[in-house]
Amino acid sequence: MKALTVIPHQAHSAELSEVDEPPSTDGPILVATQAVGICGTDLEILAGDYGWAPPGRERLTLGHESLGRVLEAPSGAPVAVGDLVVGIVRRPDPVPCANCAVGEWDFCRNGRYTERGIKELDGYLSERYRITPEFVVRVEPALGTLGVLLEPTSVVAKAWEDVDRIGGRAHWAPVSALVTGAGPIGLLAALLGVQRGLEVHVLDQMTGGVKPDLVRALGATYHHGAIGDLGFAPDVIIECTGVATLVLDAMTHVGDGGVVCLTGVSSAGHLLSVDEGALNRNMVLSNVAIVGSVNANRRHYEAAADALARANHDWLARLVSRRVPLAQWSSALERRDDDVKVVIEVAPSLT
Ligand code: BGC
Repeated sequence: MKALTVIPHQAHSAELSEVDEPPSTDGPILVATQAVGICGTDLEILAGDYGWAPPGRERLTLGHESLGRVLEAPSGAPVAVGDLVVGIVRRPDPVPCANCAVGEWDFCRNGRYTERGIKELDGYLSERYRITPEFVVRVEPALGTLGVLLEPTSVVAKAWEDVDRIGGRAHWAPVSALVTGAGPIGLLAALLGVQRGLEVHVLDQMTGGVKPDLVRALGATYHHGAIGDLGFAPDVIIECTGVATLVLDAMTHVGDGGVVCLTGVSSAGHLLSVDEGALNRNMVLSNVAIVGSVNANRRHYEAAADALARANHDWLARLVSRRVPLAQWSSALERRDDDVKVVIEVAPSLT
């Protein structure tokens, strides 16, 4: 079968390879991949900056934002033949650490977790894959191909859970939320904020194109410029860019008792000059909480599936801005101005 593979830490090594059928040791559920979303992590892997091949192998099959249809499932499995499903990305570490042992692999304590399509496990960008029942999530059939948004939504479902749990350290009745970055993660974070009944603001550098419209269509407010110029101090900031200046601005401008959740992965080497005394003083005197958030466990995938089912499907469809057939995979990896979420279609389009 065909799979899009890379040699991690070697730029421009991606190719459409002929690979073996998935081994039965990967699990009793066989899935035909329908579509796979491309995200910043994939682009980092393709650039040779991230990713690890399975032990003893040179190439890694890419793809962690998946949507597939079940071809085989044992009786008693949580999914049946024909179901649309998404594969969870992370697997617990083998020790396992205390968190992985209770299914909270997104909080792995020793870094020995593995991730499909990213770290030591083949991803989902192959015609078929196998999986075990505990790592597969059923998608509402009405979502169709939009189910490919489930994995990125799981990441923001976790971020919001973090915010709510941390906010709940005292009386917590947030009114306003700022999301920085209007990429897929930012837009999905904004969607979940609106679903929580918050007054949502999204700040991005783009002044035109589809992103401002997508924000407004959610009932949220679009801004560009600096956080300090917004004219209000948000109760919650979900930072989705990883841009150092925005991260610092978020820490400085969040409201008293507010929560800043950092979800953007930045590259090292950006040195800023910071008045750390003022930053610390403000954070302490205002009870500000900053939390980093990555990955998602099963609970977050389920929350994400629920959020997507409740969302306006026409709005979700606008997030999937480009669909590229597997044979033309390389054009899916180009960044174009009006791209929001680019998806590689592995099997012909669903209804
Ligand atoms: C994925 C996460 C993963 C993270 C770090 C993200 O793109 O969505 O599941 O944990 O990359 O590897």
